Amino acid sequence: MFRRAGQLQFASSLFRYPAAAPSRHYSFEVFRDVPPLRQLRRDLLLSKRTVGLVPTMGALHDGHLSLIRQAASENTDVFVSIFVNPTQFGVNEDLSSYPRTWDADIAKLEQLNDELKSGNSGSITAILAPTPKTMYPTLPPSSEINGDGSFVTITPLAKKLEGASRPVFFRGVATVCMKLFNIVGAERVYFGQKDVQQTVVIKRMVKDFHLDTEVKIGPTMREVDGLALSSRNVYLGARRRKVGLVLFSALKAAESAYQSGKLARSDILGPSNDITRDVLSQQQSLSPAERVTFEVDYISLADPDTLEEVETIDPAKGAILSGAIKMAPLEKTNAGEDCGLGDGKVAVRLIDNLILKPVSE
Ligand code: PAF
Repeated sequence: MFRRAGQLQFASSLFRYPAAAPSRHYSFEVFRDVPPLRQLRRDLLLSKRTVGLVPTMGALHDGHLSLIRQAASENTDVFVSIFVNPTQFGVNEDLSSYPRTWDADIAKLEQLNDELKSGNSGSITAILAPTPKTMYPTLPPSSEINGDGSFVTITPLAKKLEGASRPVFFRGVATVCMKLFNIVGAERVYFGQKDVQQTVVIKRMVKDFHLDTEVKIGPTMREVDGLALSSRNVYLGARRRKVGLVLFSALKAAESAYQSGKLARSDILGPSNDITRDVLSQQQSLSPAERVTFEVDYISLADPDTLEEVETIDPAKGAILSGAIKMAPLEKTNAGEDCGLGDGKVAVRLIDNLILKPVSE
């Protein structure tokens, strides 16, 4: 490991992929390096096949699988990247504890490929699971906001909302996506609506850099009660899982206000804020072994293109309603309690959003 102040850990223990990718056992090829993948891409192009890229950081869940299904319905070949991208984690963030579930991911992709290959859609042809050195060939780039490295910055979008609490996050996302898009040369790239700001940043990057790819957005996948699927949900455990639904409930209340004809910010966000405040005060009245505490980072009502906060919604444009809450670690746990991965000690940031669609006359 080579860590100077602000530099990212590139310790191999953080990247538990098989040393050599034994791709012959899979129904897709696994690439750890760029040139062989480019060769395959060229062959596909010459055969007039189309590629849809689904970038992921692994820990695959049904949200990812649904994006892959969408990509397979619109392309002959799907490439999935699995890379826990160090540059989108700040110095104090959860890079080392981010779930890494290579075997389970590959098993899910194999099972999905059986399904895809038995239908008449495209299927998964390649997994790109590069090493950090492949993705960042020159330097271990800095995780400091003013640090060195070859970065793509998309401002002011990247500074808003999630970017306000995670200042290097979208620089890391834009940088790694630029690399992945350059490596794969996909006709289409697929992102989930769940990370709405990420979709806005990526669309802006594609537009501003004239990247020759189409950005496609798949719907947020939810549990039956509405909780948005996220790789980080495994840390919640039963108690925080239940209270974590507060974010979705708050956004739904704001959405109902819009659907009932309200356009002013206070009329829309008022009901959301009431819900978060009430749930928090209920929790605070409980004992440490029963309660869950959380902090609302933001509930935002923003313009769909610029992410500027809006005072009054323009019904011809609609708006993005989004929020983030930070679930604190459990103060006291009970014997036999399901506290999630990390035994309830890991703080969990939950984000979610709903699109307030334009209202046609
Ligand atoms: O959404 C994610 O999982 C990541 O931000 C992405 C797009 C794969 C970039 O690392």
